[in-house]
Amino acid sequence: MKKPKPGSPDIYDVLPELRDEEYEALKRDIAEHGILVPPIIDGESGEIVDGRHRVRAWTELRAERTRVQDYPRDVRRFASDEERVAVFIASNLFRRHLNRQQRAEVVARLREQGWSLRRVSDVLGVHHETARRDLSIVANATIPDRVARRGGGTYPSRRPKLVPSIFVRSARDEGRARAALVALGEEAPGPDLRRSEEKARLAALARRRAGEVPESVEGPSWEIRTGDFREVLADMPDHSVDAIVCDPPYNAPGVPLYSDLSDFAARVLKPGRLCVAYCGKVSLPEQLERLGEHLEYVWTGAIFLPGRHTIFRHKMIFGRWRPVAFFSNGPYVVRTTIVDALWAPGRGEKRPDDHPWQQAVAPFERLLEMVSKPGELVVDPFTGSGTTGVACMATGRRFLGADVDSGAVALALQRLSDNGGPADVPGWAVTSGV
Ligand SMILES: C[S@@+](CC[C@H](N)C(=O)[O-])C[C@H]1O[C@@H](n2cnc3c(N)ncnc32)[C@H](O)[C@@H]1O
Repeated sequence: MKKPKPGSPDIYDVLPELRDEEYEALKRDIAEHGILVPPIIDGESGEIVDGRHRVRAWTELRAERTRVQDYPRDVRRFASDEERVAVFIASNLFRRHLNRQQRAEVVARLREQGWSLRRVSDVLGVHHETARRDLSIVANATIPDRVARRGGGTYPSRRPKLVPSIFVRSARDEGRARAALVALGEEAPGPDLRRSEEKARLAALARRRAGEVPESVEGPSWEIRTGDFREVLADMPDHSVDAIVCDPPYNAPGVPLYSDLSDFAARVLKPGRLCVAYCGKVSLPEQLERLGEHLEYVWTGAIFLPGRHTIFRHKMIFGRWRPVAFFSNGPYVVRTTIVDALWAPGRGEKRPDDHPWQQAVAPFERLLEMVSKPGELVVDPFTGSGTTGVACMATGRRFLGADVDSGAVALALQRLSDNGGPADVPGWAVTSGV
């Protein structure tokens, strides 16, 4: 169990210790029911702010080989040590039945730590006159007039604010919640872990947008352009591209883009080559129809997403796979085999600073091997975080990407630079062979 941070008030001494019989009763209860009240964790330090006895009992039970399930956690961001103390006191007092003398001791110790009487009474849930009377029965308490500020000075006491928190159900998710809180910075988390992570990813994207992003950047075997693909890729020569592998937006405003993709692919793809596009399921029929406006339908594949699902609330459907459409420019020229079911590895979790729509790299690598050969040019007009580009580097393809969102381009540039591919392949530049 971690100690309070150096310099923080020694808050865990404020309350009387649990008696042995109380602790044993708690442990028996946890052995039978598990931990029902989630311990509160400091998202920054990982310190247990509330629930030390519960976690200690749980840890002992596990060590004694008693089967107890992992427990829920409430991971919070505290603005200050003061706030952490307030939460610790409040959550403990509601569960412990203190007699008047015990409560008076708590009042006195908080006052000794510089708390105003009003704030002590707020946290204890008693009238401030009650707190004052409590105090009068502790003869040796020394009470300062103002609340002391750490690092010097004093300030008037404040009511504790609502502390941003994320509820999780396991140690693994506690790590994710802490990472999300750090990535969110000052922003409030969402109502649960998933929403908080989504919010963190959007916040990271917004931060990247605020930075300077060049119009076009090249690596040894890749290039990314910032802007609408219909404009920034307009200079691509006809029939110069070996394959298009992409993941357009699936939402309603994105649906017409499948027509523009079809038009673009029919112009730049070499005859018989493939345009592979991830699709959504809500508008799948319309997306397929639009792709077919200028291209020929070849096949529909599936990317299975283990551990991850999209919830379509109105239809009560949990989606666990993504359709991927194969269309060719004119009659399909068979060059290698296609396997139409692919699995994204692991549980498909994303980090809080990933792109909100970032896809797993592995299925893209497999798709590239099915639709192109090493050294060939692959284009992704909807680059996002650059997953197609990263897969191109891993499989030895040249890559040209574009994205209208400068935040996405900034992330793609970072990922591509980290996975820059071999620099010593002759004729490796993106424009060679175009
Ligand atoms: C589903 S995301 C791609 C995610 C990507 N596959 C990844 O793994 O990160 C679609 C991307 O298309 C971009 N986009 C939308 N309309 C566009 C347009 N007209 N031209 C270029 N990019 C566009 C969006 O900004 C977004 O980043």
